[in-house]
Amino acid sequence: MSVLSPLLWCLLTLLLVNIQSAYARSVKRSLPEDGEVVAHPTVLILGGGVAGVIAARTLYEQGITNFVIVEARGELGGRLQTETIGVPGNQWVVERGPNWVQGTQTGDGPENPIWALVQKHGVKTVYNDWYGSMTTYDETGFSNYTDIFNESGDVYDELTVVAGARVEQQLVDLTARSGYSLIGSKPMTPADKACEYYQFDWEYAQTPLESSWIASSWGNNFTYDPDQGGFGDANEMSIDQRGFKYFIQAEAAEFLQPEQLMLNATVTNITYSSEGVNVTLKDGTLLVAAYALCTFSLGVLQNDDVVFEPSLPDWKQEAIQSMATYTKIFLQFPDDFWFDTQMGLYADTTRGRYPVWQNMNLTDFFPGSGVVFVTVTGEYSVRIEALSDEDVQAEVLEVLRAMYPDTTIPEPTAFYFPRWHTNPLFRGSYSNWPPSFFSGHHENLRATVEQRLWFAGEATSIKYFGFLHGAYYEGLDVATDLALCIQAGGCAGLAHVPEIKNAYPYVV
Ligand SMILES: Cc1cc2nc3c(=O)[nH]c(=O)nc-3n(C[C@H](O)[C@H](O)[C@H](O)COP(=O)(O)OP(=O)(O)OC[C@H]3O[C@@H](n4cnc5c(N)ncnc54)[C@H](O)[C@@H]3O)c2cc1C
Ligand SMILES: *[C@@H]1O[C@H](CO)[C@@H](O)[C@H](O)[C@H]1NC(C)=O
Ligand SMILES: *[C@@H]1O[C@H](CO)[C@@H](O)[C@H](O)[C@H]1NC(C)=O
Ligand SMILES: *[C@@H]1O[C@H](CO)[C@@H](O)[C@H](O)[C@H]1NC(C)=O
Ligand SMILES: *[C@@H]1O[C@H](CO)[C@@H](O)[C@H](O)[C@H]1NC(C)=O
Ligand SMILES: *[C@@H]1O[C@H](CO)[C@@H](O)[C@H](O)[C@H]1NC(C)=O
Ligand SMILES: *[C@@H]1O[C@H](CO)[C@@H](O)[C@H](O)[C@H]1NC(C)=O
Ligand SMILES: *[C@@H]1O[C@H](CO)[C@@H](O)[C@H](O)[C@H]1NC(C)=O
Repeated sequence: MSVLSPLLWCLLTLLLVNIQSAYARSVKRSLPEDGEVVAHPTVLILGGGVAGVIAARTLYEQGITNFVIVEARGELGGRLQTETIGVPGNQWVVERGPNWVQGTQTGDGPENPIWALVQKHGVKTVYNDWYGSMTTYDETGFSNYTDIFNESGDVYDELTVVAGARVEQQLVDLTARSGYSLIGSKPMTPADKACEYYQFDWEYAQTPLESSWIASSWGNNFTYDPDQGGFGDANEMSIDQRGFKYFIQAEAAEFLQPEQLMLNATVTNITYSSEGVNVTLKDGTLLVAAYALCTFSLGVLQNDDVVFEPSLPDWKQEAIQSMATYTKIFLQFPDDFWFDTQMGLYADTTRGRYPVWQNMNLTDFFPGSGVVFVTVTGEYSVRIEALSDEDVQAEVLEVLRAMYPDTTIPEPTAFYFPRWHTNPLFRGSYSNWPPSFFSGHHENLRATVEQRLWFAGEATSIKYFGFLHGAYYEGLDVATDLALCIQAGGCAGLAHVPEIKNAYPYVV
C-alpha cells in the first residue's frame, strides 16, 4: 500500500457513504401505492451480489444505463456479508460468507478478476497457508498424522488427473467417491477420513458421493492449476475490517447512480412472456421491464420463495440441481490454548464432525483477538442449523475438550454462526455439481427463457461454479450477450437443449 492510500481511502469511503445515503433517499421517494408501477427500465437486474453488480457495470460500459438492480438486503454484495463479534474493546469484523480470493495469479498468466478488484480497492488480505501450517488431532487429543495429511493431497491430485483422462476418452462421469475407489483410495480410519474431508468436502461443501468426479476436478483445475489455465494455488484471506464486501461496493460506487438501485426490495413474483418481464415486490410494487436478468442463488430457484409465472420450463427446472452449505462457526476466548499453526484438523469417528479449525489469533491475522473458527459442511450444516446456538456451542466445546484433554476449556466470550441453508435469500452457500448433471444441464441453467428472462450467477459458470470469480465472469459474459441483444432490438437469447438424453436406450 502506498503512503498516499490512507487519504485515498478516506475519500473513497466518503464517496461510498454519500452514494449510499443517496440510494436510501431515492428508494424512500419511490415508496409506492399497492400495485403501482414504479419503474419501467429496459433491464431489471434481480440481485445485487457480485454477478448483479458486474452485470450492471457491463451494461453501463455498453452504454445501456436504463437498468435497475433490485436487491432484498439493505446493501450490495450478496453472499459477501460481515458480522461483528467479540467482547467490548476486543471486537472483530468476521466474514459470514466468502473469505478468500482463491487462486490469484501466476507470473503473467491469467489473473483472478476478484484479485484485481481487491487490489484496486485496497482490501487487506493475507496469504493463508492451507497445507503447510497444520496441527492434527483426534478424539484422544493431539495426534500426529501429518504423513496421512500430506498423502491425501497427492491422492486428490491423482483424482483430478484420472478425471481428465476420462474426459479425453469420453467416458461417463461418476461420483467422486467412485473416482477415489478407482484410484485405490478407500479411507478407513478417522484420520484418513478427516484428511480426505479437508481436501474435498471443505472445498465443495458436499461429500465425494454427492459430487461429480469430472466437475469437481474442473473446479480445482481451472482455478488453482496454471497448467490448466488456472490462476494459481494461493488462497488470500480477507482480514479487512471494512469487510471483504468492500471491493464490490467500492466498484459499484464508481458507476452506479441512485436511481439504478432499489435496496430492501424483495421480489415475490416474476411474470414473463416473449414481450417482457413484470416483477412484483413483497410490498406490492410492480416493476415492468423489457428484460430481466435473474442472479438469485440456485437455492432460491430450487425453493418457492420466488414464484415464476408461468412456471419455469421443464428443461430449466431439471437443470436446477444441487446447492451445498458451508458453515463457519466463530468463537472468542479470553486466552488461547490452541495450536499455533494457521490450521487445525480434528478427526472424529463421525466424518465431518467439527473437522477444520482456523486460528485467527496470529500476528498476521487478528492478533490478540482470541478468535478461532471451525467449519462444517453439507448435511452436517443442515443438521446444526436446526439446533439452538446453545446446543451447537455445547457440541463444539465437547470437541475442544477432546482435542485438549489436559486443558480446562473456558466458556467462550463470543459465539456465532450464520444459517445459510434456512436463509430464504440464499438457501445454501454455493452450488455444487452432482454426478447427474451433464453439459446440457449446464447450458440450460444459463439459457434464456422466452427471450426475455436471463440468468447469471456463480452456478451458471462451467469453469468456476461456487466461486466469487465464477459470479464475476457470469455477470460479465451474460450481460455482454444481453447488451448485444438489446442493441439488436431483440434476439432469441442463449440457447437451450430441449431434452438431455442417454447415448444408448436403457435395456432392462
Ligand atoms: C459460507 C460461504 C463461503 C464462501 N467462500 C468463498 C470463498 O472463500 N471464495 C470464493 O470465491 N467464493 C466463496 N463463496 C461463494 C461466493 O460467495 C459466491 O460464489 C458468490 O458470492 C455468488 O455471487 P452471486 O452474485 O452469484 O450470488 P449472490 O451473492 O447470492 O447474489 C444474489 C443476490 O440476490 C438477492 N436475492 C435473493 N433472493 C431475492 C429476492 N427474492 N428478492 C430480491 N433479492 C433477492 C440476495 O440477497 C443476493 O444479494 C462462499 C459462499 C459462502 C456462503
Ligand atoms: C433498509 O432497511 C434497513 C433495516 O430496516 C434500514 O436500516 C436501511 O436504512 C434501509 N436501507 C435503504 C436503502 O432503504
Ligand atoms: C509429525 O511427524 C513427522 C514425521 O512423520 C515429523 O516430521 C513432524 O515433525 C511431526 N510433527 C510434530 C508436530 O510432532
Ligand atoms: C508434509 O508436507 C510439508 C510441506 O507441505 C512438509 O513440510 C512436511 O515435512 C511434510 N510432513 C510429512 C510427515 O511428510
Ligand atoms: C486436471 O489437471 C491435471 C493436471 O494438470 C490434468 O492432468 C487433468 O487432465 C485435469 N483434469 C480435468 C478433469 O480437466
Ligand atoms: C404471486 O404468486 C402467488 C403464488 O402463486 C399468487 O398467489 C399471487 O397472486 C401472485 N401475485 C402476483 C402479483 O402475481
Ligand atoms: C406487465 O404488466 C403490464 C401492466 O399491468 C401488462 O400490460 C403486461 O401485459 C404485463 N406483462 C407481463 C409479461 O406479464
Ligand atoms: C493471542 O495470542 C497471544 C500471543 O500468543 C497471546 O499472548 C494472547 O493471550 C492471545 N490472546 C487471546 C485473547 O487469546
